[in-house]
Amino acid sequence: MALYLVTGGCGFIGSHLCAALAARGDAVRVLDDLSTGSRDNLLPGAELLQGDVADAALVRSAMQGVAGCFHLAAVASVERGVQDWLGTHRANLTGTIAVLDAARAGRVPVVYASSAAVYGEQHILPIAEDAPKRPLSAYGADKLGCEQHALVAGHVHGIATLGLRFFNVFGPRQDPRSPYSGVISIFCDRLARGEPVTVFGDGGQTRDFVHVADVVAALLAGLDAASTAAPVLNVCTGRATSVLDLAHAIAAACGRQADIRHAPARAGEIRHSLGDPTGARALLDLEPKVGLRQGLEEVVGWL
Ligand code: NAD
Ligand code: UD1
Repeated sequence: MALYLVTGGCGFIGSHLCAALAARGDAVRVLDDLSTGSRDNLLPGAELLQGDVADAALVRSAMQGVAGCFHLAAVASVERGVQDWLGTHRANLTGTIAVLDAARAGRVPVVYASSAAVYGEQHILPIAEDAPKRPLSAYGADKLGCEQHALVAGHVHGIATLGLRFFNVFGPRQDPRSPYSGVISIFCDRLARGEPVTVFGDGGQTRDFVHVADVVAALLAGLDAASTAAPVLNVCTGRATSVLDLAHAIAAACGRQADIRHAPARAGEIRHSLGDPTGARALLDLEPKVGLRQGLEEVVGWL
């Protein structure tokens, strides 16, 4: 049994990770400011340090005695980064540097959440890790900054890291009422209650939806793959789904017809986002296990 620090452990992905660590017999310490996460998501029996991941002293004390750190705390919203550029930068990049800095003393390996947002719009699909990085948001720019500081952490300070570029993650516990929630939780919530859904633009835009259980599997396997070379991997399925097809699939999972309204496309919207999973397959020996349909039924059942 080992003790792990999970920053953002009261959030959507972090709470699933904590449950998986506990299920394999490990102990968990959570650092979370509960800004978007919830105390209800805290793993029963886990220690909670409530505070800001950019608070260097707090992060240093949270890092004491841990065998590894999973760093997920961030303002996980592109839109929030538009509204509060400097504030989200503090959480997303300064927070990551605080984690890496605190990992120095005990040479603690760090697996951290990056994002497909580092790629921006790409013309060659699926997107492999070495594609040019063209973030189109403060959120994506800060996630790319995290990756660059992870390189420094390895090169200068000898800290082992692994960055995981999550594509569109979905699953139970993604809060459908949050204005920053993902399309799947919003559509499931509305269609399950017989309400219409709004498709932005023509609905032909596509995404690579990856289930949270597969994200957790990548995080757990990732600790052994962390190194001072600071590798970075896509966490995705390699399968594209259009927003319109998604609405129909969710309606089918709810046993209803989809009532679809269209609204103008979101400004700056990426048209197609599809990841190449072969890097993760090779390094982590992982295949995505939860298909979209199975995952959708699970979300609808959870609501
Ligand atoms: P989430 O909002 O549910 O979880 C983030 C957690 O971090 C929350 O519990 C929140 O309270 C906490 N937090 C936020 N700012 C903090 C701060 N300054 N100090 C301490 N805690 C703070 O989001 P999520 O979807 O679980 O995202 C987890 C990670 O995965 C984030 O780093 C996010 O950027 C990344 N990511 C998520 C997706 C996705 O599709 N959900 C895609 C790409 C990357
Ligand atoms: C997602 C992530 C973001 C990440 C980015 C990486 C979420 C919530 N956001 O953004 O953190 O940086 O991938 O590329 O996971 N849509 C509708 N109607 C709705 C809601 C959404 O049509 O009510 C459409 C959007 O226009 C978009 C698609 O659904 O085309 C997905 O939207 P969303 O779930 O918000 O995620 P992304 O914008 O892809």
